[in-house]
Amino acid sequence: MTTEQLISAYRAAGQGQVFAFWDSLSPQAREELAAQAAEVDLTEVERLNRSLVFKSGGGGVNLDGLAPAPYVRLPENGGNTAEWTKAKEAGEAALRAGRVAAFTVAGGQGTRLGYDGPKGTFPVTPLKHKPLFHVFAEKIKAAGLRYGRPLHWFIMTSHANHEQTEAFFIEHRFFGLDKGRVHFFRQGRMPAVDFAGKILLETPGSLALSPDGHGGSLRALHRSGALDLMKAEGIDTISYFQVDNPIVRSIDAAFIGFHLLSKSEMSSKMVPKAYPEEKVGHFCVQHGKVIVVEYSDMPDAMQRETTADGALRYLAGSIAIHIIDREFARRLATGGDGMALPFHRADKKIPTVDAAGQAVKPEKANGIKFEMFVFDALPFANNSIVIETARADDFSPVKNADGLDSPKTSREDQLRQFARWLKAAGESVETDSTGLPKPAMEISPLFGYDTATFVERWQRLPIKPMIADGLYLE
Ligand code: UTP
Repeated sequence: MTTEQLISAYRAAGQGQVFAFWDSLSPQAREELAAQAAEVDLTEVERLNRSLVFKSGGGGVNLDGLAPAPYVRLPENGGNTAEWTKAKEAGEAALRAGRVAAFTVAGGQGTRLGYDGPKGTFPVTPLKHKPLFHVFAEKIKAAGLRYGRPLHWFIMTSHANHEQTEAFFIEHRFFGLDKGRVHFFRQGRMPAVDFAGKILLETPGSLALSPDGHGGSLRALHRSGALDLMKAEGIDTISYFQVDNPIVRSIDAAFIGFHLLSKSEMSSKMVPKAYPEEKVGHFCVQHGKVIVVEYSDMPDAMQRETTADGALRYLAGSIAIHIIDREFARRLATGGDGMALPFHRADKKIPTVDAAGQAVKPEKANGIKFEMFVFDALPFANNSIVIETARADDFSPVKNADGLDSPKTSREDQLRQFARWLKAAGESVETDSTGLPKPAMEISPLFGYDTATFVERWQRLPIKPMIADGLYLE
């Protein structure tokens, strides 16, 4: 398409304002604006305007036939130990066969944390202040060593943080990983619109574009060629986790095994909600399919409902940890069988320009961003399963600068985990009433990355270090 054709297409779609300052732009700025404009699917914007922007009333989520999703219980909560052992063995066999890749979504804007830089570069461990990417790299390396097959690691970035992310890995020599097995690719972006559905400019020569949500990861895996690379490498199982959660078991053999044994196309981990109104999505079933219903879409009374034994009926909270089948991701990304992730609307303050091209920093929401959520893929998946995990072993994200889910809470949860591992190995550790150890400590995933691997390694140490003096193990 020539630039003239592009501008005509925008005018015909009622989006001619995108080129309002065209005459005043330099040739290079014109080229850049035209390239951004060509990236936008105007038909998709038109469809989203109709379904999400112009629609009056809340719409809401259809709760017909909704029920709590069944899940596989942990052995300590009544689950079947033999089943867990079998799943772990199946997962380990897949890891030994090189069928599994790690996948981190790191394209978010991290606005709540307010940190200047890609979130994965944020220092997060208690003693050595290792950045999130370093922690994951060590977990992935450790799993590769354990199963005799180094894993591939796919990292989804955004246009805003891609270069910085790559440069960070180069600067740190890929944290000891084989750089040929670490793959970065950018996620897609979507234009923001005002409340009249008009695409907003960020500056006279650029569109207000933002990442298309973690659900965009499925499209991006396909578009970037990552799925083809996986296929060529014999990888069919993708271990998906978020960049903000340092205690996640990035590679969890039992989880992988449950997924494979159930022939599930997309599996999830749940934690029991800490309290009825906890702000997490709820795993539910509807018409035979697993879905996640956001806390904001579930009536309060439903969130508080209890069963005969007094437990919460909608107990299963989503923590954004999944195993995804490679070909399922491809089917979704290419829209096979009419499958497509829906977009969600988020009203935001979007920096833009006024009619004279002057910068405007809005004080209240002035427009709408469109995002896809990865869990919306679940109802498309065959045999989707949910397994239970202990929150303390898998989930303590860094979302906010302080308060809940902050660097402090995450650091403390890491420390509690180290203390629990030491206790599981039969050591005595002085802790407070919340399990927080008194001595300073940090355990590298290269030493141990869960209770079993830690205990095994600790017991092999010929001389045990003094815990009370402070401890760093690698
Ligand atoms: P969050 O929902 O916490 O969003 O992302 P965020 O953008 O990181 O942070 P805030 O809301 O601006 O404070 C959860 C995970 O999904 C990834 C994030 O990088 C994080 O790992 N994500 C989110 C993407 O990869 N792309 C997106 O477009 C959105």
